[in-house]
Amino acid sequence: MPEAWARRAHMDAAGYDAAVARVEADPEGFWRDVAGRLDWIKAPSQIKDVSFDKADFHIRWYADGVLNVSANCLDRHLPHRADDVAIIWEGDDPADSRKITYREAHEEVCRMANVLKSQGVRKGDRVTIYMPMIPEAAYAMLACSRIGAVHSVIFGGFSPDSIAGRIKDCDSRFVITADEGLRGGKIVPLKMNVDLALTSCPGVEKVLVIRRTGAHWLEHGGRDVAYEPLRDAASTDCPPEPMGAEDPLFILYTSGSTGKPKGVLHTTGGYLTWASWTHELVFDYRAGEIFWCTADVGWVTGHSYIVYGPLANGATTLIFEGVPNYPTTSRFWEVIDKHQVEIFYTAPTALRALMREGEGPVQKTSRKSLRLLGSVGEPINPEAWLWYHRVVGEGRCPIVDTWWQTETGACLVSPLPGATALKPGSASKPLPGVKLQLVDAEGVVLEGAVSGNLCLTDSWPGQMRTVYGDHQRFFDTYFSTYPGKYFTGDGCRRDEDGYYWITGRVDDVINVSGHRLGTAEIESALVGHHVVAEAAVVGFPHDIKGQGIYAFVTLNVGVAATEELRGQLVRWVRQEIGPFAAPDVIQFAPGLPKTRSGKIMRRILRKVAENDLTNLGDTTTLADPSVVDDLVKNRAGA
Ligand code: PRX
Repeated sequence: MPEAWARRAHMDAAGYDAAVARVEADPEGFWRDVAGRLDWIKAPSQIKDVSFDKADFHIRWYADGVLNVSANCLDRHLPHRADDVAIIWEGDDPADSRKITYREAHEEVCRMANVLKSQGVRKGDRVTIYMPMIPEAAYAMLACSRIGAVHSVIFGGFSPDSIAGRIKDCDSRFVITADEGLRGGKIVPLKMNVDLALTSCPGVEKVLVIRRTGAHWLEHGGRDVAYEPLRDAASTDCPPEPMGAEDPLFILYTSGSTGKPKGVLHTTGGYLTWASWTHELVFDYRAGEIFWCTADVGWVTGHSYIVYGPLANGATTLIFEGVPNYPTTSRFWEVIDKHQVEIFYTAPTALRALMREGEGPVQKTSRKSLRLLGSVGEPINPEAWLWYHRVVGEGRCPIVDTWWQTETGACLVSPLPGATALKPGSASKPLPGVKLQLVDAEGVVLEGAVSGNLCLTDSWPGQMRTVYGDHQRFFDTYFSTYPGKYFTGDGCRRDEDGYYWITGRVDDVINVSGHRLGTAEIESALVGHHVVAEAAVVGFPHDIKGQGIYAFVTLNVGVAATEELRGQLVRWVRQEIGPFAAPDVIQFAPGLPKTRSGKIMRRILRKVAENDLTNLGDTTTLADPSVVDDLVKNRAGA
C-alpha cells in the first residue's frame, strides 16, 4: 500500500482496528456517530433494535429519527456547494454530454416532485421507474423520496412480462418512463414495453413519459402524460416530506433460488446512512472529486453508488448512458479523460471483455486523473484484477473489490484504501461493525483458514427490512437456514490472514455478466413455451460473463429437436425475461436425472455443463441412471 494512501485516507490501519474495537465496546455510540453524518430533522435517540430470532424477529435502525433523503442529497449542499456539479451526464453518443449543478438538480427534482403530486402520487405510493440512463432517472428517484413515495426501479433491459410482474407485485399505480432509450447506438423501446406490460396491469393510472429521443409514442388517453409541458409549468419549490427513519424508501426486485423475484425493501435512515458512509470510506471520497460508477440505476449498485451515496456526500457523480464498446472499445477510458474522473467503479465482466481487446485501446488514453479503482458484482479473477491494476491504473491506483448484495444496501466487505494491504481477487475484510461468519452445511461455525457458507451474525444499518408484501418469505429466505444468522447465499474462503475470498453462489442463483438470475425463473420461462415439457438450468464457467446459462430441455413427445427450435427457445427467453437472460447453450434431453422422489439432481447437470464428466458422483440413487449416459453423449459443445 503506497505511503501516500496511508497518510491521506479517512481510515488507516490503526483507525480500522480502533473502529472495530469501538463498535464492539460501544455499538450504540458508534452507530449514532455514523448516522450523524446525515442531516436529521429529528436526530434518532433509538439507535439499534434488532433480533434475528424467529420468536421476536425484527430489524429497526434509528427508528425515532426523522429525515428526508432528497434533502440530504440536495438541499443541504446548497449553502456551500450550489454551483458545484452534482451530475455529469455522458450520453451514448460521445458528442452528447451535460453538467448539472446542485442548484439545477435541486430545481429539477422539486419540479418533478410537484408534477408527481399533481398526478396524484401521495406519500407511501409505489412508483415504478423504467428509464434509460439519463439525469431524469436520478431526478425521478429523488423526487419520489422528496414526497415520501416508494420507488421501484426496473432495469431497462427487462421485458414487458417482467415489468408487469413487478408492477403487480407492489401494486404500483404510477409509472415513469421515457419514449425510448439509446444504448450502443441502438434504440430501446421503453414506452412500447411499458404499453405491452400494462395490457395486464389495469391498476396503473398514470404513465409519465419523458422525452429522450423524441420518437412518437402511442398515447393512451387519460393514462399517458408527456412530462415536459408539466415540468415547465411546475414550481421549483417543493418542501421535503419529513419521513420516519423506518419509512420505506424503495423496493428493488432481485432473483432468488425459488419463485418469482423478491421485492427487496429498503428504508430511509439506515439505508442512506450506509450508502453515504460506505461511499466515503470505501472509495476514500473527498469533497470535489469526480466519481463514476458504470452500473445501471436499475440495479442496486446504481441506486447506492450513482445516486444516493455520492449525492448524500456532495460528490460529482457521472451518469453514463452508453456501453463500454461503443463507438469504440476505448470509450470508458475516453470518458475518464474527458471528465477527469478520479474514482472509477465497474464490474469484472466489463474488464474481461475489454481485456480481450488488448492494451492498445487503453493506452491511447491518458487516465492521469484516476486515483482509485473499484470492482463489484462478481468475483474478480486475479488475472483481470492484475490487468485492471497494471494497465488501467498504471500501477498507481488501489483497487477496492467490494462485496455486497441488493439485500445489504451497500458494501459490506472491501479493502479500505490506506488501511488494507491488497490481495488480487480478495474482497479482503469486513467494514467495521460487519460481523461475518463461515459455517458448514449443518451450521457448525468454522474457525481459521477454511471455506464455508457466508453468514452475518448481526445487523448493519443498510440491511433490507422485508420482502415487500411477504415478511414470512423474508424470514424464510435469509434467516431459517442457519437460525439466528443472515445467510448470504454465497460460498467463501477465509485465508490465514483473515482475508475473505467470495467463491460464488451456493444456491440456485447464477451471476451472468454481473446480473443476478434465478435458474428457476429461466426454467419457468422455458416451460411456458408450448413445446417444452421440462427444463433445468445451471450455470457454467464463461470467460467473459463469469457464468453462462446452460439449459437442459425436455420436449413434448413428438416434437422434433431442431436447430431452429433451439433458436426459437432462446428468443422466447429473451422476450419473457430480457435479453441478458438468454441461454448460451440449450441441450435437448429426453430425460433429466431425478431421484426416485422426483427431485432433479442439479449436481449432475452442473458437472455435465462444466464438462467435468469424470466426476459425476453417485448416480445409483437416480430413478433412471441411463439418462446420464444420454446427457453425456449428447452434451452440447459449450
Ligand atoms: O454472489 C455475490 C455477487 O453478487 C451477489 C449479489 O448480487 P446483487 O444482489 O445483484 O448485487 C450485485 C451488486 C452488489 C452476491 O451474493 N457479488 C457481488 N459483489 C461481489 C460478488 N461476488 C464476489 N465478489 C464481489 N465483489
